[in-house]
Amino acid sequence: MPSLLRLLLPALPLLACCSKVQLIIDTDLGFDVDDVGAIAVGQHLAGTGKADILAILHNTAFYEGVGGVDVLNSFYGNAGFPLGAYIGAWGSSPAAQGAQNSYTSMIEEAYPSAVQNYDQTPSAVKAYTEALSAAANGTVVIASIGECTNLRDIITAEPDLFFSKVKEIIYMDGGYNFGCGDSSGSGTSPWLGSTEDCDGAAQFVVDAIPPSIKQVFSLNGGDVYTGSRFSDATPCGDGPVKDAYRRYTNDGSRPSWDPIAVYMAVNGYDSLYSSLTPVTVAVDYYGRESYNADTGANQFQVWIDGDHNGDVTREIDNMLCSAPCRGDCSGYEMNSMKNCYGGHGATDLEQPSTSSAGTMDLSECLALCDETDGCEGVAVSQAGSGQVECYRKADIDIAACDSYIPFDTWVRK
Ligand SMILES: *[C@@H]1O[C@H](CO)[C@@H](O)[C@H](O)[C@H]1NC(C)=O
Repeated sequence: MPSLLRLLLPALPLLACCSKVQLIIDTDLGFDVDDVGAIAVGQHLAGTGKADILAILHNTAFYEGVGGVDVLNSFYGNAGFPLGAYIGAWGSSPAAQGAQNSYTSMIEEAYPSAVQNYDQTPSAVKAYTEALSAAANGTVVIASIGECTNLRDIITAEPDLFFSKVKEIIYMDGGYNFGCGDSSGSGTSPWLGSTEDCDGAAQFVVDAIPPSIKQVFSLNGGDVYTGSRFSDATPCGDGPVKDAYRRYTNDGSRPSWDPIAVYMAVNGYDSLYSSLTPVTVAVDYYGRESYNADTGANQFQVWIDGDHNGDVTREIDNMLCSAPCRGDCSGYEMNSMKNCYGGHGATDLEQPSTSSAGTMDLSECLALCDETDGCEGVAVSQAGSGQVECYRKADIDIAACDSYIPFDTWVRK
């Protein structure tokens, strides 16, 4: 290695830090399962070096909601950032608590985590303040995939901090989130009851944000269903993401609105067979939106090309199915559903050739490959508790590998 390059190497982690998207996720996990998928996608993108998760906030009064978030963070081995929760009237009635608990208690019982409920976390305003204070100006990207209660509260409490640190917001908008559980102007959600303390939030937030911050509205281009691979004859994945999807969808699939918002927040708005259209959005007190001609407000609709819905499904499912990284997986590229072995696109490095190097975390398997002469990548299958069976490979030719759902092959970049 040239000595100049060696001298520069210690600086590389610093560079790596700031080229990653500085991501905050604001979620209403509990009622629908696509929030689980969204956090899974965010964690996958963090594990593969594309994003730093600065905070995750929960934005309804569902008591166990933030506990469900922590179950997922723990499963992915990346929980060292502020968590916070909305505490207020919105969604707080006993009936609303039940309606929001379609899988959360189940995953909390099956996968222990440090945080179970909002008595154990700071408020969302406090967590937002901590995360934003630590960020550089104009860098933070917020994926708003629930109601706008927390955004309203942090903008009210710390407007200068918020407006100086945030670069852009992508909203999973529409009648449910902006309309506080589909109140449709009635002040009552059919599922969650009174919309008190949520009505007016989306209007306030969208109006308060200055044109220096980009606002992207994402409920456009038709539904993309994901999660069915969890219930295939040879299912993919393992852990709370899979369990929540299977419970909520009754072994089916679910539109992937929230995961798509997080995916685009990190990979950009043209990354998912998609494009932006400049608009000006007006939101009324009950969250009803009207889209008007662009007036330079730095507001956009993002559209997915409907001809590529199947490609989007595959891309999101690949991430949902992936084993949790639990470390740094940025040096390798995931080839989902690829099983490479002797005579099928790879030379096996294990002895005997069909044995595994062991059961371990994905990041440990990749590190083992780093240390192995000739190793170009690993084929992994999931082994329970989020770990993988690790099979090291040389001479990888992805095009010649088998396609098989419960295997991924990670190839060194
Ligand atoms: C960040 O933005 C704030 C508010 O606009 C400003 O006062 C501060 O000087 C900025 N900090 C840096 C490091 O540019």
